Amino acid sequence: MTAVRIAIIGASGAIGVRHVGFLQKNPATEACALVDTAPQAEELARRNGIPFFADYRAMLDEVRPDGVIIATPNRLHVPMALDCIARGIPTLVEKPIADEIGPALELTAAAESSGVPVLIGHHRRHSPIVQRAVEVIKAGELGQVVSAVAMHLRRKSDAYFKAQWRREEGGGPLLINGIHELDTLRVLCGEIEELQATTSNAARGFAVEDTAAITMRFQNGALGTLTLSDAVQASWAWELSSGEDVRYAQELTNAFLICGTKGSLALPTLDLCWNERGGGEADPLLRKRLPIVPADPWYVEVDHFAKVIRGEEKPLVTPADGVRTLAAIEAVKESARTRAWVRIDDLIDRHRTQPSPRQTGTRS
Ligand SMILES: NC(=O)c1ccc[n+]([C@@H]2O[C@H](COP(=O)([O-])OP(=O)(O)OC[C@H]3O[C@@H](n4cnc5c(N)ncnc54)[C@H](O)[C@@H]3O)[C@@H](O)[C@H]2O)c1
Repeated sequence: MTAVRIAIIGASGAIGVRHVGFLQKNPATEACALVDTAPQAEELARRNGIPFFADYRAMLDEVRPDGVIIATPNRLHVPMALDCIARGIPTLVEKPIADEIGPALELTAAAESSGVPVLIGHHRRHSPIVQRAVEVIKAGELGQVVSAVAMHLRRKSDAYFKAQWRREEGGGPLLINGIHELDTLRVLCGEIEELQATTSNAARGFAVEDTAAITMRFQNGALGTLTLSDAVQASWAWELSSGEDVRYAQELTNAFLICGTKGSLALPTLDLCWNERGGGEADPLLRKRLPIVPADPWYVEVDHFAKVIRGEEKPLVTPADGVRTLAAIEAVKESARTRAWVRIDDLIDRHRTQPSPRQTGTRS
């Protein structure tokens, strides 16, 4: 099998460097070009023996890669992806799909009308833990899902906040972490119909939030909450408890509790409890821990992208899907501002009918 040739734009950034490693490790993929505007990027490419470009359009036209990974700042995702689609090149766009819903809808329309596959980088969808949980819920083992509790509670180091952008809007736990938690809740519990949120910066005193509390209603009638803070001494957070992020030692705690009429499931431990007789508290719950074969979801995502390029699989996370997760985050921000409940469909419709000024002519 010939390896698919994949280029990375934003290759010397935090996630870009990891993508270089995934492509090099996988015999089904080859890193055919690295693109970045940062001074250290050329040296990274030279060290790895990979052609380097500072201009991504020049790379697309010269190298003609089989696929492209876009790992640049959020605002650049859509214009870069549109340039890839115009050249018929399948693209993996890092999460979030865009920095605003308007451009995200534009990318969705372009991908759908062109038929060029676009995969959005919500890597946790490729987690074997999440996929096993979805199987259990779909098989009805929890009965009707009634409520969900999600947590992202941890303390990030003071050094982490030395970068100015992490202290400003967009650098806090909502957009960096909450987007993964809301996306995971969508996969486990179905579409979010509406939500209400409140945020606080009282612990660190930065312009950006350090803490948020969100209440949501799912389309199937279930209710859920998500509490986020990056300023507390705790490890109820997926990255710290799943063992999937090699940067952290694994703590056997949980980050999600999905509760149904027959049973409940805790993730990431995959502890399932249930009562087949439907009894009350006096009737003890049965318990088991579900086995899985662990895997690195980021690696699996890039392997899936190679299969998408070969035409063997369809993108697991489509642009339309990415829009709904981005809309959930936008709804949180709007609700925190207005204190009102926000319906996700209304928010998306508003952007469809009143396109933002950036929605046309994003391609310079
Ligand atoms: N899936 C995940 O878990 C995950 C994790 C981290 C980051 N991300 C996403 O990946 C993206 C990048 O995040 P990061 O933390 O790696 O940021 P970063 O700032 O570390 O990296 C971004 C890179 O893009 C480069 N860049 C900027 N403008 C460019 C241009 N015009 N052409 C080429 N390169 C350019 C920068 O020089 C930098 O090296 C963001 O969208 C982020 O949300 C996803």
